[in-house]
Amino acid sequence: MAGTQPRPLVAGNWKMNGTTAHLREPRLLAAMLRDVKLRCEVLVCPPATLARRVKAVMKGSRIRIGGQDCHTAVSGAHTGDISAEMLKDAGCTAAIVGHSERRTNHGETDATVRAKAAAAHRAGLTAIVCIGETLEERKSGKTLAVVSKQLEGSLPEGTTPANTVIAYEPVWAIGTGLTPTTAEVAEVHTHIRKELGKAVGENAAAMRILYGGSVKPSNAQELMSADNVNGALVGGASLKAADFIGIIKAYA
Ligand code: PGA
Repeated sequence: MAGTQPRPLVAGNWKMNGTTAHLREPRLLAAMLRDVKLRCEVLVCPPATLARRVKAVMKGSRIRIGGQDCHTAVSGAHTGDISAEMLKDAGCTAAIVGHSERRTNHGETDATVRAKAAAAHRAGLTAIVCIGETLEERKSGKTLAVVSKQLEGSLPEGTTPANTVIAYEPVWAIGTGLTPTTAEVAEVHTHIRKELGKAVGENAAAMRILYGGSVKPSNAQELMSADNVNGALVGGASLKAADFIGIIKAYA
């Protein structure tokens, strides 16, 4: 596949963290990245309340901002929800959809995720579609079957490498400090690439497949070197500029 590898993406997911005081971190990150030659794109997904302000403190940098979720509708009576169009209006270029915390805490199914990804596309955002197995599923040898089913159910019509990124995040690796081995990551990512062929045909080679789950500066280089890994989705370690830049530099 040499020559067809897509430009990697390192995305930070702040989850429900960050108030005004935290703006110093993206400001610092933008300053630290100013003179770094990068082979990857960088995206920060703060809480929606901070989207505009994070964008403002990183003004002039190459870092983009994204949302962590979106509703399927453009607008309407959906108290507390945020539409993809609103994220776009707030300066976002991407939206994470189907994160395992949304699937678990909010009962999101593959069908919900598919509709949210379609909403992101409608608004002109890149959908970062998350999939991944639980520990129980891994232990019973179901990992590849689980991600195949999630992929099949979560990608809307019109999915292309330009409007969609896949994030493989084993649920048991999120926030636990545990990670699969490089060989295990490569096995799942290579399987995902093959399965993507069904959805996007030969364009599958150009689709970015991120690894997520306990990525840190100390393991980023190794995890990112696995076959068919085109970047990372980072939770905890994206909150501090010093840690996040350590991961981004896996691509410097
Ligand atoms: P983590 O989270 O890096 O804190 O494990 C990853 C994620 O949930 O995207």
